[in-house]
Amino acid sequence: MLSHRISLLSESITVAISSLAKELKAQGKDILSFSAGEPDFDTPEAVKKAAIEAINGGFSKYTAVSGAPDVLKAVADKLKRDNDISYKPSDIIINVGAKHSLFSLFQVLLNHGDEVIIPSPYWVTYPEVVGYCGGKSVFLPTDDASAFKITPTQLKEAITAKTKILVLNNPSNPTGSLYSKDELSALADVLKGTDVLVIADEIYEKLLFDGLQFTSFASLSEDAFQRTITINGLSKSAAMPGWRFGYIATPNKGIIDALKKLQSQSVSNVTSIVQKAAIPALDGTIDEDIEFMRKTFEKRRDLAADALNKIDGISVVKPYGAFYLFVNTKDICADSMKFSKELLEYAGVAVVPGIGFGMDGYFRFSYATDEKSIIQGIERIGEFIKKNYGK
Ligand SMILES: Cc1ncc(COP(=O)(O)O)c(C=O)c1O
Repeated sequence: MLSHRISLLSESITVAISSLAKELKAQGKDILSFSAGEPDFDTPEAVKKAAIEAINGGFSKYTAVSGAPDVLKAVADKLKRDNDISYKPSDIIINVGAKHSLFSLFQVLLNHGDEVIIPSPYWVTYPEVVGYCGGKSVFLPTDDASAFKITPTQLKEAITAKTKILVLNNPSNPTGSLYSKDELSALADVLKGTDVLVIADEIYEKLLFDGLQFTSFASLSEDAFQRTITINGLSKSAAMPGWRFGYIATPNKGIIDALKKLQSQSVSNVTSIVQKAAIPALDGTIDEDIEFMRKTFEKRRDLAADALNKIDGISVVKPYGAFYLFVNTKDICADSMKFSKELLEYAGVAVVPGIGFGMDGYFRFSYATDEKSIIQGIERIGEFIKKNYGK
C-alpha cells in the first residue's frame, strides 16, 4: 500500500530511547532527561507580543510563497548585520523550520546517485533526507582528537565527479564543535574551481562561548558566496522551536525559483502570524534575551563538561558552541545503544546514543535543562559507571 519512497526513510534511532524514557516516567520512575534538542527557555515576550498584534490586526491571509515582504527584508537585514552577507530579499525563502528548509533543498537539488559530503558525527536528518531524495551520503569521520572537525585534506580526498554538495553544520549538533574563520577559509580553498555547493547550516550561530566570533561560510569570499546556500532559523537562538520558522538564502535564482515552485505546491507559505512574530527575533529587539540564554548555556557547559570529565572512564572535549556535549565512553563501552539503554533503565538518565549520529562509543548530553538536574544527572552517571564498569 505504501510508496517505495517512504521505505527509504527510517525513524530516528533516538526515538527508541525517548519512548523508553516516556514509558519509565509513566510507570512513576524518576527520570532525568538530557536528550532535548531545544532550549528550555520560553519564547521572548517581544515575539509573543508581535504574534498577538498580528492576530488582532487580522494578518490572516496567505502571504507570498517565499514570505511577506517585510519579513524577507528583516531576514536580509539580519544576514547583513550579523553575518556580513549581502543577500537581497529575493534571494531568500522562508520555510516551516530549518528542517523543512533542508528537506526542500535536497528535493530540488539531488538527482539519483549525486554524492553529498557530510562530516560525521552528523545531525541525523541530513543522511536520511539525502537518501530519501536519491542521493548518496559520503561521511567524513572525525573524533574528539580533531575536536570533531574535518580537515582540508579529508575534504579534497572525498570529492569525486559525482560530488554535488558539502553539508557544513557550524556549530555542530551533536558535538558543539566550531570552525574558526581560518579553518573555514581552508575548506573553501579546497572547493575553488569545483562545482560543489555548500549547505551551511548555521542554526546554532548565536550560541557561542569563550568570547569567540562566528563566521558565516558565505561571508568568506565572492567564490564562497556564490556556492553557498545558507540555512538558519529561530528554533535554537530565539527559543522558538514550536513556532516553525527557518529560511534559505542563496544568490542562485534557479534554486530559489525551484524552491518557490515546490513550496507553492506544498505548504504555500509559513503561517502568517509566525512570520510577523519573527521580525523582533531577527531585527535585534530580543538581543538581550538571546545574550541571557547564551550566558546561561555557557555556565551550564562549564558545569557539565567539568563534572563529566571527573568521572573515570569517560571524557569530553569542551565545545565552543550549541548546547550539547559529545561524551566518549570507548574505554568502558563501545556500544552506545547498550550504554544509553542501561543508563536509562538502571540510573534513570536519558541521553542520546552516539550511533544515532553515526558514531558509536559516544553519547550526546544536552544541557538545555536546569543546573540542579545537570548536577544530579551527572552524579547518577558517575555512580552507574562505577557500579557497572568497575571504575
Ligand atoms: C543542526 C540542525 N539543523 C537544523 C535543525 C532544524 O531546526 P528547526 O527545524 O527546528 O528549525 C536542527 C534541530 O535540531 C539542528 O540540530
